Amino acid sequence: MEFIASLCSLLDAIFRSPGNGDFGTCRCLQRQVPQFATLKRDRAKRLTKIFLYGFMKKLRVLVLMHEALIPPDNLLGYSPEEILEWKTEFDVVTTLREMGHEVLPLGVYDDLGDLRRATEDFRPHIWFNLLEEFHGVCVYDHHVVSYLELMKQQYTGCNPRGLLLAHDKPLAKKILSFHQIRSPGFFVVPRGKKTKLPQSLDYPLLVKSASEDASNGISDASIVYDLDHLIDRVNYIHSSTNTDALVETFIEGRELYVGIIGNRQLKVYPTWEMIFENAKPGDPRIATSRVKWDVKHQDKLGIKTERAQGIPRGVENRIKDVCVRAYKALSLSGYARIDLRLRDDGEIFVIEANPNPNLSFGEDFAESAESIGISYDQLLKKIISLGLGYQAEWRLV
Ligand SMILES: Nc1ncnc2c1ncn2[C@@H]1O[C@H](COP(=O)(O)OP(=O)(O)O)[C@@H](O)[C@H]1O
Ligand SMILES: [Mg+2]
Repeated sequence: MEFIASLCSLLDAIFRSPGNGDFGTCRCLQRQVPQFATLKRDRAKRLTKIFLYGFMKKLRVLVLMHEALIPPDNLLGYSPEEILEWKTEFDVVTTLREMGHEVLPLGVYDDLGDLRRATEDFRPHIWFNLLEEFHGVCVYDHHVVSYLELMKQQYTGCNPRGLLLAHDKPLAKKILSFHQIRSPGFFVVPRGKKTKLPQSLDYPLLVKSASEDASNGISDASIVYDLDHLIDRVNYIHSSTNTDALVETFIEGRELYVGIIGNRQLKVYPTWEMIFENAKPGDPRIATSRVKWDVKHQDKLGIKTERAQGIPRGVENRIKDVCVRAYKALSLSGYARIDLRLRDDGEIFVIEANPNPNLSFGEDFAESAESIGISYDQLLKKIISLGLGYQAEWRLV
């Protein structure tokens, strides 16, 4: 054991440059050495490092999360609603600890100094990124990851560019359209502007936020059939979420989720479906905020998610192809979940791409991995390996 521990510190010392914040004066010299040789050497070092860390299974993992979501040590005495709030954080922290890693949960709200101090004090091998916002703004998550890159830190999940593109839903849709990937027809009503229906779109329409997630602002009333309701709902999005409203053609169909993992070589997990078991014919079958977060409402509607059944092989292949192309088009890395709607006529529409999706044990992403034999700890291990292997720009200079 001791031998392994000292090998670990030796490796740490050798490989600490340029990875963990204390890279010194030779940085500019390194710029001048032939790039190809440097890259090859760096790659060899990185591969050795991943292999040995994998073997030793002992990393300092700093789990980055919202300060309100730091989980307790066990679940005793908490209601299902309370647990749902920080379940991902709990599952990740406890599982990483069970895997033998040294784990430090770091709660952050609006102080970048917390990240800087944790870098210096804890000297993490990797940051496990579960943070989805900064001072309450969810589209600021990419800035935090950029900051980690500026500090030459390695992190799990998506890179800043992918986060930025995917979270700007209208921009993401324009990029998808360039790549001939179908997403619902749309227009945006910016905050403070009046709603005008373009002639090219027909009712029913679905009104949502252009940048919020977690179905914030989405209920059955988000589906509108006339101008009065459209205007009301746009105003509602403006006032309740303080973001621009995204109005889309409502796609009637099956609600599908596809997990993808990888940086360059991608693995697509089996297609997952949200089932509305107790819904009556004609009921809207959409993932509203209550469907996602209200346990009683879920029971009432008979909500469950499971491996999608009965999708013809050809359609399944097209779904995979669409998801891989969307992942690449939006510069995603690490792991993501693509949300889709599948119409009865077999047409596939990308609703959105979710970099760093919900990683709770038993949630769609982990479940679909599990369905092909990847256990939760293996999944976290893969995610960490991908984080260690990600070639951020600073590694290439
Ligand atoms: N154009 C659409 N047509 C049909 N359903 C939609 C459409 N847009 C969103 N939805 C429904 O609303 C849910 C949440 O929308 P989404 O864009 O994924 O927002 P969020 O980022 O909040 O998850 C989707 O999973 C789907 O059920
Ligand atoms: Mg979604």
